[in-house]
Amino acid sequence: MLENKTIVLTGASSGIGLSVLKLLKEGRGNRILAVARHVDHLAGMGDNVIPFACDISTREGVDTVFAKGEELFGKIDIFYANAGFPYYEEFNYTDWDRVDAMFRTNTISPIYTYAKYIRHLGGRPGILAYTISAIGEMAMPGYAIYSASKFAMNGFQQAIRLEKPENLQITCLYPVATDTNFFKVANSVEFEKPFPVQDPDHVAKKMVEGIEKGAERVSPSKLFGVAKVLMGVAPPVRTVYWNLETAKLNRFKKRLADVHEHIQKDVQVIEEKRQEVRQAVAEKRQEVHQALSETEQAARRDLEQKAAHIREEFEEIKDKIHGN
Ligand SMILES: NC(=O)c1ccc[n+]([C@@H]2O[C@H](COP(=O)([O-])OP(=O)(O)OC[C@H]3O[C@@H](n4cnc5c(N)ncnc54)[C@H](OP(=O)(O)O)[C@@H]3O)[C@@H](O)[C@H]2O)c1
Repeated sequence: MLENKTIVLTGASSGIGLSVLKLLKEGRGNRILAVARHVDHLAGMGDNVIPFACDISTREGVDTVFAKGEELFGKIDIFYANAGFPYYEEFNYTDWDRVDAMFRTNTISPIYTYAKYIRHLGGRPGILAYTISAIGEMAMPGYAIYSASKFAMNGFQQAIRLEKPENLQITCLYPVATDTNFFKVANSVEFEKPFPVQDPDHVAKKMVEGIEKGAERVSPSKLFGVAKVLMGVAPPVRTVYWNLETAKLNRFKKRLADVHEHIQKDVQVIEEKRQEVRQAVAEKRQEVHQALSETEQAARRDLEQKAAHIREEFEEIKDKIHGN
């Protein structure tokens, strides 16, 4: 178990990051800056866990995390850039803000972190850990942008190993589907996860062991490892796998179309109800208007009659006074 280490861990509030945090906090003498946007629930995890709310999707965010780590620890022994998010969809539109946010969070910030960490270390030894993805090595239907953001990270770690200082360890995690919030974030409409699915505690254990052993890469799924070799020697196996995953995307597209149809129907019903209410209000307004105008006319007639009566009485009184 890693001990007496100062650690910065991003994406610590749930899933793989939270499982890693739970393991690291047990290491004697470890102190961990636990970073995510929502960290309230991390309070009370232990004196050695310092929750820190920060959005790491910008360079300013990453700067803030480094500044906090340096203020707390001086030297950061391990920087684990784990935060990231996917989106599951057919790539046929697009929401460019989401593409931008995904690349900033999954790719640009982790690359910027490397540059910052090298400067922070200033020649001292250190450990940089990345959560990449099995999808960063083998693309999947429904994850085009996410795959691209993780392929970029895979290329970056490969190239940077050829340039990095010798005393910098870089350990990369390549999880297959892992049962975390990942799939809730990926789309609000439910979809089938890629096969196989692993538990985040298992993935975290493999990664912490990998960091400890100085591994360059950690693939927590043996099955996927075997499948990758098989796909390499027999590409039709990959085609079969991809076909199965494409069928899942097609079923998702059908479900999405059904959901849209339901929403459209609901919107139509709401619109019809709104029309009915509008019509009823207009009719009531008309009735009230009519009633008011009839009442007003009756009151006017009544007043006019009373005025005529008073005038007659007045004339009579006048006549009496003048003795007519
Ligand atoms: N689950 C999988 O199947 C799978 C497979 C391969 C790779 N991965 C990778 O594993 C990593 C962890 O994902 P997960 O599966 O554990 O999903 P998760 O449960 O959704 O965790 C994602 C973590 O990242 C944090 N995060 C997201 N955007 C952030 C931002 N802009 N600033 C700061 N923190 C941010 C989230 O916290 P807040 O929302 O509180 O900020 C959360 O702590 C990601 O890089 C993901 O791409 C996951």
